[in-house]
Amino acid sequence: MGLRKILTVKEPSLHKMCRPVEKFDGKLHKLLDDMKETLLDAGGVGLAAPQVGILRRVVVVDTGEEILELVNPELLETSGEQVGAEGCLSVPGKYGLVKRPMVAKVRAQDRNGDYFEAEGEELIARCFCHEIDHLDGIVYTEVMERYLTEEELNGED
Ligand code: NI
Repeated sequence: MGLRKILTVKEPSLHKMCRPVEKFDGKLHKLLDDMKETLLDAGGVGLAAPQVGILRRVVVVDTGEEILELVNPELLETSGEQVGAEGCLSVPGKYGLVKRPMVAKVRAQDRNGDYFEAEGEELIARCFCHEIDHLDGIVYTEVMERYLTEEELNGED
């Protein structure tokens, strides 16, 4: 069992630039396994390493079909636009209105260092952008238009 503690936006690690992963070793594999377990336990869509206090460029994303492990991810291309509700496990109980691309393609390495590409639409595109922002020390509250109100949240699905 390897549940990690999810840090909140008050913690300095959420606001720092993360360094690339250089060693694809057992320590990275343990981090990825723990992050996946922590994401599933928290019921989120994505989790970035700085949210568990590790300043490395590592992200996990639950696409609904699988949990993607993205090491050193980069946005390759984006298209379209969506403006909608966005939350973060590090900002519990709140949601903001954030503009993101409708489609996002990323290039990343897997746990063994091999490169691959992944494309996401709608929620997954939003998540890719949100998580890569985390690796640059950016929390969505810094790029949102505004917080959603209780009434807006209750009105949404
Ligand atoms: Ni987040």
